[in-house]
Amino acid sequence: MADVADHWNGIYSTKAVDEVSWYEEVPVTSLELMAAADCGAGDRVIDVGAGAATLVDHLLQIGHTDIVLVDISATGLAATKQRLGEHPAVRYVVGDLFDLDIGPVDMWHDRAVFHFLGAPADRRRYRAVMARHVRPGGHSIVAGFAPDGPEQCSGLPVARHSAAEMAAAFSPEFALAASRRVVHVTPWGGEQPFSFALLRRQGAP
Ligand SMILES: C[S@@+](CC[C@H](N)C(=O)[O-])C[C@H]1O[C@@H](n2cnc3c(N)ncnc32)[C@H](O)[C@@H]1O
Repeated sequence: MADVADHWNGIYSTKAVDEVSWYEEVPVTSLELMAAADCGAGDRVIDVGAGAATLVDHLLQIGHTDIVLVDISATGLAATKQRLGEHPAVRYVVGDLFDLDIGPVDMWHDRAVFHFLGAPADRRRYRAVMARHVRPGGHSIVAGFAPDGPEQCSGLPVARHSAAEMAAAFSPEFALAASRRVVHVTPWGGEQPFSFALLRRQGAP
């Protein structure tokens, strides 16, 4: 996966955090869906493919104490580390999400990472990693381009999904608890329709 890491390190070393198409000052929908899932301040939250995203800043503001940020790009995570400094509530993991093994989490968050997986076998592999990590009764938020969204993100092809299609991709381990369609506005005013799926890990907590 060195080429994947190189691609993303290249992006993060040539663009400012707020110059990438996916930049969100306030991740309103992610925070709203976490609240809908009753995600508490002490719950372990993992942001997969976090890069330089601001979600962690907002989770810290509302008192979260156990946040894991994972990204294949050391440069992306370094931007977050530079912004926040070392923080006792935040753990940084540089690596491929497919190699993750960090024990149970209450909330898995992925905005604009799953949508890069074009092959059904890769999507099944992703589902297996997510199912291994999210405890029964825990939740995942997976967000990516909607069926009428762009065909590429960061110059790479994407697989576009409705929330119902995402729910099908994560069944039977996960069931759809809520969904949103959101039109993200890029820093230069472009519109990108996203699907957000809030998924509940099946099984007794
Ligand atoms: C489009 S960006 C989205 C960043 C962030 N989630 C956000 O919403 O601002 C995709 C991110 O996924 C990361 N990524 C891509 N493939 C990955 C993988 N296999 N494992 C971990 N991170 C990955 C990239 O480095 C990049 O930071």
